[in-house]
Amino acid sequence: MRKTLEGFLPYKVKSEQADVIRLDSNEAFKSLLSYVDFTELEKTLINRYPVESTEMLIEAYSKFSGFPVSSILAGNGSDECISLICQYALDPDDRVIVLNPDFSMYEKSARVMGAEVVTVQLNEDFSLPLDKLTEEIDRHQPKLLFLSNPNNPTGRLYENEEIEALIEAMKRAGGLFVLDEAYIDFAGESAFTKKVQDDENLIILRTASKALGMAALRVGFAIANKRLIEGISSVKTPYNVNTVSAQIATQLLKKPELLDQFLILQLEQIAELEDIMRDLTEKIPGSVLYPSSANFFLLKWDRAKELAEYLYKRKIKIRLFNDDSLKAVRVSAGTTDEHKKLQEALSDWSEQYAAGIQ
Ligand SMILES: Cc1ncc(COP(=O)(O)O)c(C=O)c1O
Repeated sequence: MRKTLEGFLPYKVKSEQADVIRLDSNEAFKSLLSYVDFTELEKTLINRYPVESTEMLIEAYSKFSGFPVSSILAGNGSDECISLICQYALDPDDRVIVLNPDFSMYEKSARVMGAEVVTVQLNEDFSLPLDKLTEEIDRHQPKLLFLSNPNNPTGRLYENEEIEALIEAMKRAGGLFVLDEAYIDFAGESAFTKKVQDDENLIILRTASKALGMAALRVGFAIANKRLIEGISSVKTPYNVNTVSAQIATQLLKKPELLDQFLILQLEQIAELEDIMRDLTEKIPGSVLYPSSANFFLLKWDRAKELAEYLYKRKIKIRLFNDDSLKAVRVSAGTTDEHKKLQEALSDWSEQYAAGIQ
């Protein structure tokens, strides 16, 4: 094993029984597979490597998103795009800046390459410490800056001016700014869709796993100027997106009205979850609920672990953060039925909590 990898642990996700309600991974709560034409899929040549299917996927995503074909790279989830960007941009000991909290794969992929990761703490309210961050960029001259917007796990959407300032700071440093917009559909339009097409230093990440509801397919996209896309493609394995995933995703991307309706449904469920979470926060003194522009809510509380464990006993899985820097739970939006069960469990729990039983 390489020295660099000492202390690395597998990203383990525990498998669950079918009756467990999964509100822990920010996935969509409904599968759109019934809208897929399987007679088309039956024609799939599974004896052939995927070539045309990836091209079709990129064309479909281009039409869906408005990004030109030449500025899109399709990955095996945006996880793969993150890893490819690190392989493309990083030599050992290069510096990478990430925020805390933010999506953990940035740091992991950078460290796999032997890069030095500089972590900048978000402000107490999870806003961006813009001055500190730009100072750190100027000081460390990082090759990469990663940032999710809206942020996972806080749900916070940063100001466009803040993102602009970071693009400029990374230009000065001669590094690349990776703006991960995995949850942007829940927040509205990105202000950077035009800019990314000819900007020298900006890469946008998008995924089919969240608002598009296709996490099982593992389809994600890196978007950047043509030259960068060609560069990143040079480290990619040839057939990284499988034909079946590409075909299903292509079919669904060609149904923008369906995806729009699906987004509206998800926004309704997010609003429903917000009420539940607000209600809960009011019942637990000392807890803080953060406004979210994504499909989940973060509730910070010192005793978050107890809450997560209780819900798990009630077969509701939420995401727990329980380290020195963050004690919180993150709850993803589910169906109304799932929300009812969550609400029931939460009111039982808060009654016990108020009575001092917990
Ligand atoms: C901010 C962010 N980026 C990227 C990903 C990875 O998504 P994908 O399923 O496309 O690999 C996630 C998944 O949770 C995420 O939260």
